[in-house]
Amino acid sequence: MKPKVYITRKIPEQILEKISMVCDVRMWDKEDIPVPYEILEKEIVDIDGLFCLLTETIDHSLMSKATNLKIVANMAVGYNNIDITSATKHGIMVTNTPGVLTETTADLTFGLLMATARRLVEASDYLKNGDWKTWSPMKLTGQDVHGATLGIIGLGRIGEALARRAKGFNMEILYYNRSRKYEQEKELGITYTSFENLLKVSDFICIITPYTPETKHLIDTEQLSLMKKNAILINTARGGIVNEAALYNTLKNKGIFGAGLDVFEEEPVSLDHPLLTLPNVVTLPHIGSASKATRIKMADLAANNLILGLKGKRPQNLIND
Ligand code: DGY
Repeated sequence: MKPKVYITRKIPEQILEKISMVCDVRMWDKEDIPVPYEILEKEIVDIDGLFCLLTETIDHSLMSKATNLKIVANMAVGYNNIDITSATKHGIMVTNTPGVLTETTADLTFGLLMATARRLVEASDYLKNGDWKTWSPMKLTGQDVHGATLGIIGLGRIGEALARRAKGFNMEILYYNRSRKYEQEKELGITYTSFENLLKVSDFICIITPYTPETKHLIDTEQLSLMKKNAILINTARGGIVNEAALYNTLKNKGIFGAGLDVFEEEPVSLDHPLLTLPNVVTLPHIGSASKATRIKMADLAANNLILGLKGKRPQNLIND
């Protein structure tokens, strides 16, 4: 008998076929609507494997209902949507998809940094709204990226890929990480500094660290108050790392120059969220890894992890071993 698998969203056809070759598949067949929790609660009862996205909360209560579940394959590198402690207690393997999205996410992070620094969205709206009457000396002036100081919070794979991009713009690169990375310092020409110093001296601060209880509201009123007036904060990790109310107040009071946000504490962000009213905030709908090729690679890697786990083998990207 084939193992039973539930897939929580419509995934690329070729990946679905790959899983269906070896598993009995049920799928939430919608592209843009996440599976409701109550449905997942029913579906999880008899399955052996779950293929899910970061939009699903896989908590203790849900896993307690699963009698056969062996593996949860998350199609994301971040896995803060899954209660890992509970999964381990239940003997459920959890996997993620690191590596395949590194370069694509670094591209987006640098793109968002550029867009925020040079006010690209505001400038495009200005033109489309018919406000462009003449070339004007100081209109829509932003911040230079070349030669500026970049502070990277979290030097994992994506942080390193971001540093390589910043090198091309002749930026001075500082990083803060739980542990020092001596090899990368040499290879990339980057400098380790304290968290506080990074906040104080950087022109651009990019958050690329995992979301854990320790990083919740890592950037709050106090940290924002240390930043330079011309500083730009970029977050492509998880929204909860920044206290959004504190960020709003700081931006409104011109405490920093701007922010580029691909992620929010609540996603999708509510249209009446105060941050959306500010012209110096560039907002994106969590698209860091959203290139066609990368999303297919992520789905494929999640499928490989799922299948290996169901065959009783060790999945490539096991988190809770
Ligand atoms: C992840 O993988 O964690 C990103 O947030 C989405 O690609």
